Amino acid sequence: MTQQQRFNALVVDKAGDGLKAEVKQLTVADLPPEDVLIRVDYSTLNYKEGLGFANLNRIFRIFPIVPGLDLAGTVVESQSPDYKPGDKVILNGWSVGERYWGGYSQMAKIRSDFLVPMPNGMNSKKAMEIGTAGYTAMLQVMTLEEAGVTPDKGPVLVTGAAGGVGSNAVAILAGLGYEVTALVKEGQESTHDYLSALGANDFSGGDAWSTDPAPLESQKWAGAVDTVGTKVLARTLSEMKYGGCVAACGLAGGFDLNTTVMPFILRGVSLRGVDSVWCPYQRRVEAWDRLVTDIPDSALAEINQVIRLDEVPHYAKEILEGQVTGHIVVDVNA
Ligand SMILES: NC(=O)c1ccc[n+]([C@@H]2O[C@H](COP(=O)([O-])OP(=O)(O)OC[C@H]3O[C@@H](n4cnc5c(N)ncnc54)[C@H](OP(=O)(O)O)[C@@H]3O)[C@@H](O)[C@H]2O)c1
Repeated sequence: MTQQQRFNALVVDKAGDGLKAEVKQLTVADLPPEDVLIRVDYSTLNYKEGLGFANLNRIFRIFPIVPGLDLAGTVVESQSPDYKPGDKVILNGWSVGERYWGGYSQMAKIRSDFLVPMPNGMNSKKAMEIGTAGYTAMLQVMTLEEAGVTPDKGPVLVTGAAGGVGSNAVAILAGLGYEVTALVKEGQESTHDYLSALGANDFSGGDAWSTDPAPLESQKWAGAVDTVGTKVLARTLSEMKYGGCVAACGLAGGFDLNTTVMPFILRGVSLRGVDSVWCPYQRRVEAWDRLVTDIPDSALAEINQVIRLDEVPHYAKEILEGQVTGHIVVDVNA
């Protein structure tokens, strides 16, 4: 790629009180001065970008910005000893697409310490079908395993199961032999067939999940992957079996947590937080190595739909309005 060759990027800039997003033709000279130049194959669209395009929660911190918090592609030029031209790489998080230009571009310049090498057996399309959603789900499953939650201990609950993280968690846990109960929001029962196809064995739901639980409810779950927070997380904690663990990553229902110490001090329950954005390098590599085998390709086909770069603003709106089931891959070259 010469300095003058043009490529497409989705650029977001301020326009009056709002934002304007348009596909523009850029050159390498327009990219930020980071040490690795990457030819991007695919990116993803997530709830966070939905917030960004709607100009909510100050997701985009610099303007103009090329959003896209994930990317997968091939190194074209590198000033880092860690990468050479031809290497396949993955990027997730580190506030790329918020404070740094990200993956909604055919070419990207990214800091080498933000990248992980694509593991053997993975390719760009599969990596972005997994995306931050699947990588976060993998971190949650690893967290449960580290807490001693094994398939023989009993059922595992996944909350917000029809969402990006939840769908991946259902598929990974089912593939590893866990008995998975999926919890979706009231009114989302039409997703049960989709979740059964991913491996969910049973479903939970109903009014109880929007009411305050007793400090200790009857014991149901050996482990739980929570993406919802608030009353859903409070009830999950009160329903954990003795010694169980909840791996919590999200706040899809709210960020409050009104609970008691009872599950912790009388049942030895643990609540472990999971963060994907600032997750250290070695743990990222471990998670991506596991994802080569631990998420079935058939599940990824069920979970994902692929859109073009120019369709991103439309789907960003749909994701905020709860119109998207599963996960979206962005083909930046379509
Ligand atoms: N810690 C991290 O590193 C990390 C990484 C990735 C994601 N996250 C967070 O994890 C959460 C899930 O992310 P995602 O990408 O999977 O989002 P998503 O695709 O929007 O999925 C969230 C799901 O939860 C459902 N939900 C919302 N409120 C609920 C409730 N009260 N009871 C049951 N289900 C409920 C949503 O239903 P509707 O669509 O109908 O509202 C949706 O199906 C978000 O808060 C995200 O910010 C954190």
